[in-house]
Amino acid sequence: MIGRVNHIAIVVPDLNAAAAIYRDTLGAMVSEPKDLPGQGVTTVFVELPNTKIELLHPLGEGSSIAKFLVSNPSGGMHHICYEVDDIACARDTLISKGARVLGNGAPSIGAHGKPVLFLHPKDFCGTLIEIEQI
Ligand code: CO
Repeated sequence: MIGRVNHIAIVVPDLNAAAAIYRDTLGAMVSEPKDLPGQGVTTVFVELPNTKIELLHPLGEGSSIAKFLVSNPSGGMHHICYEVDDIACARDTLISKGARVLGNGAPSIGAHGKPVLFLHPKDFCGTLIEIEQI
């Protein structure tokens, strides 16, 4: 069911410092920071030949990733996103296999303007999974 890794998201305490690490130390192509108020994050996209890394920093009050930084003050991997062809079909299949979909089960529009859902980390080896319809 799942296809390519669309992106790996890393929450960072300092977006400019993290962007500099990826650009200057690791030699990757790094975007300018982009605010996504609807998701409560500012992102920097790191373009790799086979996938993307998304550096995330909380934006505004009540950002869902603010708590993550409290627990992980130096940052850490937040989620991995897999591509699916049909998100409603993928959701129904996952639920039928006992997986928990976060939220109300309705896809929201993710950072790339495509429908996304998040899956409970306890059902997936302790890793928060995002699925994105491509
Ligand atoms: Co994501």
